[in-house]
Amino acid sequence: YLAKGIPLPEWFSRPEVAEILRETNPPKFAQGLTIWFTGLSGSGKSTIAHALTERLAEYGRNASMLDGDEIRTHLSKGLGFSKEDRDTNIRRVGYVAGLVAKHGGTILCSVISPYRSTRDEARAMSQGNFVEVFCDTPIEVCEQRDVKGLYAKARNAVAEGKGMGFTGVDDPYEAPLNPEVTLDTSKLSVSECADRIIDKLLELGYIQ
Ligand code: PPS
Repeated sequence: YLAKGIPLPEWFSRPEVAEILRETNPPKFAQGLTIWFTGLSGSGKSTIAHALTERLAEYGRNASMLDGDEIRTHLSKGLGFSKEDRDTNIRRVGYVAGLVAKHGGTILCSVISPYRSTRDEARAMSQGNFVEVFCDTPIEVCEQRDVKGLYAKARNAVAEGKGMGFTGVDDPYEAPLNPEVTLDTSKLSVSECADRIIDKLLELGYIQ
């Protein structure tokens, strides 16, 4: 009506119509949300997600977390790191996140999720209420951190000609093409990273 310059019908301004519109299409700040952290091992996904949880609470959004390591000890126990297993893992996380978001919750997922198309599947499962945060930390920095010693193990395995299928070393990572937020944790502090995400959520209307 508005785009075509047609006057709105009389019934449109009735309070019960406004009520129906509010119920069927609530504002973003009243809708559920999945915040999806993707990036290499050691890129800062979980650390930033933790910091963001506290910031979100200040805006009245109480968030839950699905963390890669934890998921793999429960929901995805027994899965390995082949493409098939990683995809299964990501679909499970995406499915749970989608359920939470659909019912108005806020969920922060920190998983490497190396494949673009599987991340897009996860996005679709949250019905558009999905904010992708790309932890774009250079591999050299991730490798220097090597909190779990896995990069060293992967390099050794490659040197010995065996390989380990470790993301970024001898397994692929497909960087997002259009993430809502990109962060380089080698240049930004944890709280600056959280600020960037908060700014984006304010801009998108998920918090106010
Ligand atoms: S995935 O690809 O999204 O299914 O991976 P995810 O569930 O996030 O698990 C990543 C953590 O598992 C550890 N790990 C590996 N990562 C990548 N490749 C291989 N081969 C591998 N083997 C073990 C690693 O510690 C990851 O933890 P983070 O927290 O990302 O450092």
